[in-house]
Amino acid sequence: MTDSIIKKFDMTGKTAIVTGAAGLLGRQFSLALAQAGANVVLADLSGDLAAESADELKEMGFRTNSVEVDVTDPDSTKAMVGQALVAYGSVDVLVNSAALDPKFDSASLPTQDANEFESYPLQSWQQAMDVNLTGIFLASQAAVIPMLQQGQGVIVNIASTYGLVGPDQRIYERPDGTRQFKPVYYSVTKAGVLGFTRYLAAYYAGKNIRVNALTPGGVYNDHDAIFNAQYSTRAILGRMANLDEMNAAMLFLCSDASSYMTGSNLVVDGGWTAW
Ligand SMILES: NC(=O)c1ccc[n+]([C@@H]2O[C@H](COP(=O)([O-])OP(=O)(O)OC[C@H]3O[C@@H](n4cnc5c(N)ncnc54)[C@H](O)[C@@H]3O)[C@@H](O)[C@H]2O)c1
Repeated sequence: MTDSIIKKFDMTGKTAIVTGAAGLLGRQFSLALAQAGANVVLADLSGDLAAESADELKEMGFRTNSVEVDVTDPDSTKAMVGQALVAYGSVDVLVNSAALDPKFDSASLPTQDANEFESYPLQSWQQAMDVNLTGIFLASQAAVIPMLQQGQGVIVNIASTYGLVGPDQRIYERPDGTRQFKPVYYSVTKAGVLGFTRYLAAYYAGKNIRVNALTPGGVYNDHDAIFNAQYSTRAILGRMANLDEMNAAMLFLCSDASSYMTGSNLVVDGGWTAW
């Protein structure tokens, strides 16, 4: 007799840490994991925003906690895992969602030539390496300690379509001639996330620790009509993703529903990378 397929998505009794939990997708991932029954530790550089999100989930009746973490700091990532263990006794899932990801929504449209390659600052490049790559290295390094002791664990790294294909910079141009660019670090670090995912999955062969990546396409967040239209022509489905459209894939990767997947990358991009 095999388990019901729905049961395989059930996270009851499991503890999940979500880094970048105060972010656009981090909040969504935390909500979805909580809805599936997990104890969720919302971890973010902004301890206040993480606490606010955790409180909202608590008010909805879910078991959540928050922790302030800087994923570029090994002491901080160790403390994050330590707090999850104190609160819930295990760390079954780590979702590495924290990242620097410049937005092009209405609230944050950059200025002329923003992120131009020729003058891109070394300091910004290095900072992004620290957060987007060293961050998942350190958070994973801390989380695998209890996972090895438990004899099981799951890590899901959030990548991006720009880790698979180069950004089409034309979608960031404005009709008035203002040029903006998705910065170079974003493609480089997100490609690195996929390499890290395969490395760690292979490294833990035989240890019952599965490591996969989720590759989202662009998620709509009050982008203006110009950006929305320019972006949408590049997606086979002809639109940006809705805020909650990564959640099912994320839950699939975190849960036993994906028990035969490791070292893999699940692409949820409306077909962006298929043509
Ligand atoms: N939003 C999208 O359209 C989209 C598309 C593809 C991929 N992604 C990826 O999905 C993930 C989540 O994206 P998002 O839209 O929620 O991003 P976001 O910018 O809204 O949130 C990122 C969060 O990471 C936190 N953070 C930054 N530096 C940190 C540090 N040093 N330590 C701990 N936390 C830190 C921020 O405080 C923020 O809350 C990212 O990895 C992003 O690259 C997003």
